[in-house]
Order: sequence, then C-alpha cells, then structure tokens
Amino acid sequence: MSLAPEALAARLLPWFDTRGRHDLPWQADATPYRVWVSEVMLQQTQVETVKPYFERFLARFPDLAALAAAPQDEVMRLWSGLGYYARARNLHCAAAEVVARHGGELPESFEALVSLPGIGRSTAGAILALSRGERHAILDGNVKRVLARVFLVEDAAVSSAGLKKLWALSEAATPGVRVAAYTQAIMDLGATVCTRANPACGRCPLAGGCAAFAAGRTAEIPAARRRAPRRLKCTHMLFVLSAGRVLLERRPPQGIWGGLWAPAEFADEAALAAFVAARYGSAAPRRRLATVRHAFTHFDLDIEPWVVAVAEAGGEVAEGEVRWVELGADGPVGLPAPVARLLEELKHGADGPVRETRPRGGRPREGAVPG
Ligand code: ADE
Repeated sequence: MSLAPEALAARLLPWFDTRGRHDLPWQADATPYRVWVSEVMLQQTQVETVKPYFERFLARFPDLAALAAAPQDEVMRLWSGLGYYARARNLHCAAAEVVARHGGELPESFEALVSLPGIGRSTAGAILALSRGERHAILDGNVKRVLARVFLVEDAAVSSAGLKKLWALSEAATPGVRVAAYTQAIMDLGATVCTRANPACGRCPLAGGCAAFAAGRTAEIPAARRRAPRRLKCTHMLFVLSAGRVLLERRPPQGIWGGLWAPAEFADEAALAAFVAARYGSAAPRRRLATVRHAFTHFDLDIEPWVVAVAEAGGEVAEGEVRWVELGADGPVGLPAPVARLLEELKHGADGPVRETRPRGGRPREGAVPG
C-alpha cells in the first residue's frame, strides 16, 4: 500500500530538516529574481555545475533591472559553457518584458509568470513556492521520479496520461504550510536519495510507503523513455587568425548555440577549402587540428578545426555580425564550450604545438577530445 499523497510532506519535512540541502547559493536570499535565475539554470543542469555560474551571473546582474539593461552578448558570455542557450536568451527577453510590462518586478501571479519566455508550469510553481511560500505544485525530473516510484505510476515518462497523473499527485502532495521547505525537500530527495540508478532506499524517509520499493521495482520505475539512436554529426570550423585575434560570427538566434559567437562552419573540407581560396587566395596555407568531439543531449558533434593565418585583420568586420576577438576564453562574447577550448589551445599554440593533424583528408590522427 502506498501512502496517501497528503501524507508525503509529514515524512519528508523531518528528513529535510536534518538531511536536506540548506546552503545552496540561491537559498541565502531567496528573492523571486534569484530563485528565477537559479531555477532556469537548474533546468537540465546539475546543482554542482550551476553553482559557480549562478554566483558569477548574480555578481554581474544583481537584480532584474541590471539583467534587462545588459547587452545580450554579456548575458551569453556569462552563460557560456552551461549549455541550452535558449534559456539565457529567454531569461534576458523575459527581464526586458518584466521591465516593460510589470514595472520591473517579477509578477506575483502564476498566470503572468507562466506567460513569460522560458517559464513553464513547474518553474513558475517553484518560483512562487520557494520565494513566496505560496502553495504551488512543481514537477521537474527529480519530482517525477519520486512520485512515479512512491505511487507506482507506470506510464509516468511516456504518455500524457502519465504526466497528468503525476501533476495531480504533485498538487495533492503539496502541503499548505512550509511549502518552500517541502518543495526543496522533494527535489533534494530525488537528487540525493531517490536517484535514477541505485536509489538509496535504505535511507529514504518514504521507503515504508513506497509502492515501487514494496514491489521490488524501483529499477524499472519510472520506465525509461525510448530514445532514438544517438547520431554523430560533423562540421568543419574555420579559425581565421590575425595578430592574436580570431574572426568569429554571431550564430543566428535559433538552433544550438544561438546568439553565441563561433567560427564560420562548413559541411565538408571541399567547401571550406573553396571559401579559403576565394577569400584569402589559393596559396593561403591552412592547417588542420585534431578532431574535437562535443556531446549534446541527443547527438555527438565532431568538429574538424582548420586554421588559416592571415596577415592583417581586414574588411570582414564591416560585414555585420562578424568580429575579431582576442584569443583566449575570457572574451567579451558568449562562446560555445568547445570553441572556447579550441581558442584557449590556439592562444597557447604560439608557445607550444597545438594538437595538429596532417591535412590529408582522411581520419584525424588523434582521438576525439570529449566535449
Ligand atoms: N533543481 C531544480 N530546482 C532545484 C533546487 N531549487 N534545488 C536543487 N535542485 C533543483
């Protein structure tokens, strides 16, 4: 027999008081703005990864007005390496919208919050519950797993009916008092005890009322979503260097790395070679560096980096969203993580060899570098 959803909080809260997380950076001063930024960063990203990004972001944008007034490049720079860059673009757009339409204060109503870019039902609930102690349910990945196991929701991850059941359970389980503590507690339990692999049921405050535990089925609940086989894509990147600087283009807002700055990309070596010959002359020497493999959630990207050194930084700058950037990862713009690493290597390449492969057209000599 599993618990009644209404009985969850009474078991979770004493556990949270002694075993939960109480020193996360966004808990110190849980204003709606700080909680909002943290919740957006925590969508699809682990707490330990988020912590330094959160600290840097809040140091630069201590309040919503500062974020709204910032240039997009600066927001993207502070997000560089965190991934899922649409989150940063949405956060920035939402801040501008809050200034324009809500007098600069994050709205207090749930409906107004969920209508902002990048704030879904669960994030809006978390903001109001954690910063204002209002009774709103949340349903992020950790909470889904806890509820699916305790209440044995078989179709939790794979159907809209399963999702509906989980929302109803989350609504019923959310208490009327100590809502902020409860909300943090169920997320903490999912993150630290009721983990996807090898859950620590021996120290779980809900084990006695957990239907999946009683049935010996914690390993199979929630059922894994069927995933398409992982694909491998390939791109050729052209690093044009001149006097310690590199030529970068701003990526269009849609798609991966939208709004970040990266070298020009080509589908294959022939297209890159034709471009180099047309722009810099057929004699321009180009060298190829070792392939870099970058892992995205649903695919791997093999980056074939090519370097062309040109004598002077010429007229390309006039062509719109193209600019020369000093080599090194701490530039003024947002860079995709593998591009930042390659620029760092190129910067130090002046003093020592960067990992280079012969431009033979075949497979690169060195193994892929994980992204
Ligand atoms: N994941 C999403 N929100 C979180 C929070 N407030 N604490 C820990 N993990 C989270």
